Amino acid sequence: MSQVHSIAVIVGSLRKDSINRKVAHALAELAPSSLKLSIVEIGDLPLYNEDIDADSPPAAYTSFREALKGADGFLFVTPEYNRSVPGALKNAIDVGSRPYGKSAWGSAKPAAVVSASPGAIGGFGANQHLRQCFVFLDVLCMQQPEAYLGNAGTFFDEHGKLNEKTRPFLQNIIDAFAGHVARTLKV
Ligand SMILES: Cc1cc2nc3c(=O)[nH]c(=O)nc-3n(C[C@H](O)[C@H](O)[C@H](O)COP(=O)(O)O)c2cc1C
Repeated sequence: MSQVHSIAVIVGSLRKDSINRKVAHALAELAPSSLKLSIVEIGDLPLYNEDIDADSPPAAYTSFREALKGADGFLFVTPEYNRSVPGALKNAIDVGSRPYGKSAWGSAKPAAVVSASPGAIGGFGANQHLRQCFVFLDVLCMQQPEAYLGNAGTFFDEHGKLNEKTRPFLQNIIDAFAGHVARTLKV
């Protein structure tokens, strides 16, 4: 069997009934056997502050960083807040990026961004702003297909089941991501 790559999934919404969390679960179910997706939680990370990070970092910072370091790649599934990245997700990116020179995002790991919104634009602003961070962080984001999921409030029924019309679109995204991971990691 070919190698299985572990992917840390970061969901940009802290909401219990989050559409983006449902999309993340759906992508995990649809993922080919070469990927193992696990959500890494960001809701308990204290707001990034260099003072508290100096001598004895909060346990939540340390465990988050360890989870990132242990992953072969990253999948971000996020809403857009005010046409940009939700604060909780930006905080997680900042926590992972420090201490300076020891970023837990690593070097040249593969990633992808999926943004979902009940609105028509599909979280385009958050999706693009995240990609901007990745240039500096040396995270290699999949270019195509771009994944702006508009009208995402209709994707799941009241039991959380993905509708059949949306399934092929998500399948295409996760299959393309598996290809991007394999090409980037060259295995
Ligand atoms: C503070 C805030 C700002 C928002 N700004 C946007 C926005 O810029 N664009 C958009 O499409 N939706 C925006 N929304 C609506 C979210 O897309 C919607 O609440 C969505 O369901 C959040 O994702 P979730 O279901 O995964 O929590 C905003 C919601 C909040 C709470």
